[in-house]
Amino acid sequence: MLSNRSLVGIRLSFQMLAVLFFLLVGTSAYAADPSVADTEEAISAGKTVFNANCKQCHKLDQKYTGPALRGSSERQPIEVVKSFIKNSQAVIASGNAYYSNLYKEYNNTVMPSHEFLTDDDLNNLLSYIEYGDKVDPAAAAASGTDGAATAGGGGGIPNEYLTLILGVLVLVLLLILVVLGLIISVLTKYLNKQGLEEDDQEFISQKTDFGKVFKSDAFIIIVTALVVALVAKTAIDGLYSVGVQQGYAPAQPIAFSHALHAGQYEIACQYCHTGVEIGKSANIPSANICMNCHMHIQNVGGKEGISSEIQKIYNAIDNNQPIEWVRVHNLPDLAYFNHSQHVAVGGIECQTCHGPIQEMEVVAQHSSLTMGWCIDCHRQTEIATEGNVYYEKLVQLHSDSKDALKVKDIGGLECAKCHY
Ligand code: HEC
Ligand code: HEC
Ligand code: HEC
Ligand code: HEC
Ligand code: HEC
Ligand code: HEC
Repeated sequence: MLSNRSLVGIRLSFQMLAVLFFLLVGTSAYAADPSVADTEEAISAGKTVFNANCKQCHKLDQKYTGPALRGSSERQPIEVVKSFIKNSQAVIASGNAYYSNLYKEYNNTVMPSHEFLTDDDLNNLLSYIEYGDKVDPAAAAASGTDGAATAGGGGGIPNEYLTLILGVLVLVLLLILVVLGLIISVLTKYLNKQGLEEDDQEFISQKTDFGKVFKSDAFIIIVTALVVALVAKTAIDGLYSVGVQQGYAPAQPIAFSHALHAGQYEIACQYCHTGVEIGKSANIPSANICMNCHMHIQNVGGKEGISSEIQKIYNAIDNNQPIEWVRVHNLPDLAYFNHSQHVAVGGIECQTCHGPIQEMEVVAQHSSLTMGWCIDCHRQTEIATEGNVYYEKLVQLHSDSKDALKVKDIGGLECAKCHY
């Protein structure tokens, strides 16, 4: 015989699950912003527009020449944001307080107008800005969009998986709820047909009481489990980024500026970093190289006397002490990286890995330098075989394959190539 007890159990689980269900649906609804499309096509189309027009000044998660863009479609109404992107000065002139303040905050830097962008372009742009190139929070503090080469560098559990897991969980819960609901109604009907005592009758016709559910042990256990899961996810993401120093920009002993030397005065990188084309290491220039110029250039900006920063170079030479530059990029000893292989043979620009150095007052580490970052690029990058006799045979052997010859095809994924 069925007892009341089993009905109590089933009804309680039903109520618990109902609460959990609404909790889950609530959180997933909160995560989605209906106004900006989160589709892969929109994001990738937006990325193309972004790279062509915005990349030089903006990153998604990091302040650059302009503000970090993620979230900007929530800072103002969408239509205003779109007008601002098309013609920022017009919106500022119209008296929009938020953008006027932002303009001041960025020292009246004029963002160029983009009247040529279509409404589709703008929608895609916003999709990319809100949903593109997500990285885990620890690295996000420093990264942003580094282009395809570093897309895998962020680490952490990919967001799509979490969304998927959440979706499946909601579905399963929904199914269980339906089944439990059915069982309850069948049982209630069944018990009603039996001649029941008054107590039992009252119990069966009792309505769902959510107040009780919140106080029940089971509810507390489920909430605790959810919190623990969240903390665990954060901790795991944190562990993935241990030792990753993206964005690291230590202060240097001399206020040497790449923006001035490599940017404004267009001194070639190789003039100072003499090793890049010929060896493993790029080399940091010795004070002698500085002296080639600073023998003559002493009073900077037309001021009287020798600049105190330049004086430091003289001190180094006089005391025969090297300048103690703080190292920015640093792979662990277990990994082997060779500059000439990439720059001279591979034909890769410094900026692909180091970012816009010629705009930096202080050098910052642009890429994550994780193994995933190296491997990602080796998977995607075609080898510059043109005019390289060494590769001619390989190209012939490879000619019946449809895909272009990539670094992975010449052993760029073999452990021993990168590990001693
Ligand atoms: C030459 C540099 C430059 C370029 C190129 C540029 N911006 Fe900006 N952007 C800025 C600056 C600087 C600001 C801060 C406001 C100001 O000074 O007008 C800004 C502000 C913004 C804001 C407001 C951000 C916020 O916090 O609300 C958005 C959105 C924006 N830009 C989007 C874009 C998009 C999209 C593109 C490419 C189509 C682009 N920008 C190209 C420099 C630039
Ligand atoms: C006039 C000499 C000079 C020129 C030209 C120059 N650099 Fe440098 N570079 C230095 C010095 C000195 C340092 C060390 C101090 C610092 O980090 O700012 C340095 C540091 C660096 C670092 C960081 C090294 C580290 O510690 O990990 C990178 C990367 C770099 N330069 C890349 C470039 C690139 C790319 C260019 C060309 C666009 C360039 N440099 C042009 C002198 C130069
Ligand atoms: C090819 C020539 C050249 C080389 C090599 C060179 N510089 Fe310069 N440097 C310049 C010029 C030009 C200026 C700007 C002078 C001015 O603004 O009047 C400058 C300015 C500077 C300033 C700014 C000084 C101040 O008070 O603002 C510093 C610091 C400096 N250089 C350090 C270095 C160091 C360190 C090296 C070696 C790693 C180096 N430079 C190598 C040409 C050079
Ligand atoms: C394929 C990516 C890549 C390219 C391209 C690249 N670098 Fe590097 N660079 C690195 C990595 C990785 C390190 C860290 C190396 C280490 O710690 O052993 C580094 C380190 C450096 C350093 C610090 C000193 C050293 O040699 O370790 C300098 C300076 C530098 N690079 C300059 C340049 C210049 C200049 C160019 C362009 C001519 C360039 N790099 C091109 C990836 C790159
Ligand atoms: C931006 C793209 C890019 C990144 C990032 C990159 N590489 Fe490469 N790498 C290349 C290319 C292109 C070649 C092929 C050069 C050639 O033609 O030999 C190459 C070749 C190599 C080779 C020689 C492979 C062989 O089979 O001969 C080694 C080793 C290597 N890379 C190590 C690294 C390491 C370690 C890192 C990360 C610290 C790294 N690379 C990051 C593009 C990249
Ligand atoms: C293209 C170059 C490259 C290849 C190929 C490569 N690695 Fe790595 N690996 C690296 C770099 C760079 C690091 C250092 C990354 C860091 O500090 O985050 C690294 C780190 C590691 C570490 C240390 C783990 C850590 O997070 O510090 C292990 C273990 C490792 N690799 C194993 C392997 C194995 C096994 C293979 C072959 C299946 C392999 N690697 C292939 C470049 C490579």
